[in-house]
Amino acid sequence: MSATSSSASGAPRAAVTATGHFVPERRLTNADLEELVDTNDEWIRKRTGIVERRILDDDQATSDMATEAAEEVLDARGIGADEIDVIIVATVTPDMQFPATACLVQDRIGASNAWGFDLSAACSGFLYGLTTGAQFIESGRFDTVLVIGADTMSAITDFTDRTTCVLFGDAAGAVLLERDDEMGLVDAVHHTDGSGSRFLCMEGGGSRNPPTHRTVDEKMHYIHQEGRPVFKFAVTRMADACVEIMDRNDLEPDDVRYLVPHQANLRIIEAAANRMGLDAEKVMINIDRFGNTTAATIPLCLYEWENDLQRGDGIVLTAFGGGFTWGASYLTWAYDS
Ligand code: COA
Repeated sequence: MSATSSSASGAPRAAVTATGHFVPERRLTNADLEELVDTNDEWIRKRTGIVERRILDDDQATSDMATEAAEEVLDARGIGADEIDVIIVATVTPDMQFPATACLVQDRIGASNAWGFDLSAACSGFLYGLTTGAQFIESGRFDTVLVIGADTMSAITDFTDRTTCVLFGDAAGAVLLERDDEMGLVDAVHHTDGSGSRFLCMEGGGSRNPPTHRTVDEKMHYIHQEGRPVFKFAVTRMADACVEIMDRNDLEPDDVRYLVPHQANLRIIEAAANRMGLDAEKVMINIDRFGNTTAATIPLCLYEWENDLQRGDGIVLTAFGGGFTWGASYLTWAYDS
């Protein structure tokens, strides 16, 4: 049900050496949603912290956003795509069931020496992807790993369901992982509890319910979420994971420059920060502008706050999502912007 990891002392660390992002231009505001469903700006702000979210054009897909984010990473780092060894795309909204979105990104950016795969862990996707990518570097087997979180949530959102359509948005974020002797991913705690799967899922389109007229009529190709039980679980488990990572690494609040939380609900984020003893200015929050972009929230934050980070800064990343999946990671930042 749970697992932990930390690199052995003396082993190289996998450090974030560049970030990138993509957000669509089209904004969907709370006022826009008032036109679609029986909701209001005050309810959405108070219950979630969201003011607007971005929606991808109909003729675009997750790989388009992931490609933009990847190219921005390469530009920022000043390396060619042929230097990438591995591409991991965390997503629950791949362009297709197969091939993996990572393959499409590999082709689009021209990463001729890379292999890659998609990772499905919903809102914990980027956190899981970071740990997975780091293993390749810590083992010494690969040097350059691109970890992308990208989701087109609008493609699986029922815009007649007010309980879900106010929450989600579209975006991509990406980081490059490379070896560093001192800085990088120090520790990670990850958990899974599949008994929560029924509370947050997309029931149609897989092998259990292959797409048919019935699955479409019954709206099984959309996100199904029972908000209250998910909230209850998320609010405690995310905070628990943050405390767990702090305890394991003897971290005091002063040791944490920033908390980088998955952006699902402002109240869940605040509960985690409170349990960690962190002041509000130490928490990266952009849920007001982008909503819940699933695997993209954490790398999007890293991209936006990159200029505030310096080599040696300690940051805690945390996520909770469908599965249930959740966890927290402790990372030391490797570069000054
Ligand atoms: N606008 C107005 N009213 C709404 C609404 C909306 N968009 N959505 C639901 N409501 C209503 C409900 O119907 C309910 O009405 P009732 O009391 O007459 O039955 C009332 O608001 C309260 O609903 P509830 O579901 O209890 O609200 P909540 O405080 O739990 O907030 C969520 C709803 C979805 C914001 C919240 O449950 C949540 O954030 N859940 C977790 C999301 C999450 O973390 N997902 C996992 C990570 S991806």
